[in-house]
Amino acid sequence: MNYDQIFEAAIDRLHAEGRYRVFIDILRNKGAYPNARCFHGHNGPKPITVWCSNDYLAMGQHPKVISAMEEALHNVGAGSGGTRNIGGNTHYHIELEQELAGLHGKDSALLFTSGYVSNDATLSTLARILPGCIIFSDELNHASMIAGIRNSGCEKRVFRHNDVEHLEELLAAEDPNVPKLIAFESVYSMDGDVAPIHAICDLADKYNALTYLDEVHAVGMYGAHGGGISERDEAASRLTIIEGTLGKAFGVMGGYIAADQKIIDVIRSYAPGFIFTTSLSPVLVAGALASVRHLKQSSEEREGQQAAAATLKRLFSEAGLPVMDTTTHIVPLMVGDPVKAKRISDMLLAEYGVYVQPINFPTVPRGTERLRFTPGPSHDEAMMRDLTTALVEIWDRLELRKAA
Ligand SMILES: Cc1ncc(COP(=O)(O)O)c(C=O)c1O
Repeated sequence: MNYDQIFEAAIDRLHAEGRYRVFIDILRNKGAYPNARCFHGHNGPKPITVWCSNDYLAMGQHPKVISAMEEALHNVGAGSGGTRNIGGNTHYHIELEQELAGLHGKDSALLFTSGYVSNDATLSTLARILPGCIIFSDELNHASMIAGIRNSGCEKRVFRHNDVEHLEELLAAEDPNVPKLIAFESVYSMDGDVAPIHAICDLADKYNALTYLDEVHAVGMYGAHGGGISERDEAASRLTIIEGTLGKAFGVMGGYIAADQKIIDVIRSYAPGFIFTTSLSPVLVAGALASVRHLKQSSEEREGQQAAAATLKRLFSEAGLPVMDTTTHIVPLMVGDPVKAKRISDMLLAEYGVYVQPINFPTVPRGTERLRFTPGPSHDEAMMRDLTTALVEIWDRLELRKAA
């Protein structure tokens, strides 16, 4: 058995398809986001503008967040020192869980080390606890939800993206006495579209199903207090479980679920991904707590982000660039080819100091490769005009308009 040959062949396949991933080496400049330094392909650092970060509201740079983290570090030290059950249940964790439960109007919340882990641990545990459970999953659900569903070992039915008629067909075909769970997202991060939450909850009521909503790309950014699309659409009370991340709009790291006390108690007690791992560092929890609290009472960042996204979409569209139609803060430009997407991204970085990562399969379906821009409150109009000019030049140089 030639192990090396097998590993090499696996990597060669990615190169051949043009989707071998190159991680760009950067350092963000504290307090000056979206400015950063890039160490990639240079002798020294080169200034760049970041356009693809999921620190959507620049909360990772917010003075309240940074000082809360500094204070926690100095007060209690670096790590939590254990699992939640054995020494790692700090007062910071308890306070943040209370804050998150309040944010979503639920009894309780539970922290995990990431959004990925919260989806995997919760979905796999829930479906194992419910005898014969069938999970109904949107076809564009994130890899972490798919992993949780797989790990549960339960039956699954995949419904066409945001298609409530198809979902109803699948629900109606099953035994009414079998436990059912509908798993979906609010904002889909690669297409920037939004789920019909009320219509899905109507079906859940009709077919007696539980609901699980991933609000990872919406918490902090939608709703009067940053409770996500479920807050904006006044649907939170209809959902069984709301899941979110602390690593995107809240700018730090970690994940969570919010639900009734009984469900939280079950997940807390049965989910290996929660039980058998060191809890989040109190430093991270303190930063997330400051961020959640700030965004509960401040809409300035949300408004700035929406204004920036609208401006960038307008500039792209006026310049004839293939901007995808979205109703959210996500601004994707369709390229439709992995090699070209990577080429454009490389040119932007090397020649224009613009950092946007190409998005390839399996994150998006083959043939829909794209550049995904996430403008936020710190991207000003001059930056957006420079970006648009750079893209138009590249589109012309690569003759992409003709190809389209
Ligand atoms: C829809 C969705 N859910 C969950 C996650 C995982 O969240 P985290 O980055 O906190 O692990 C992601 C991450 O990109 C995501 O896009």
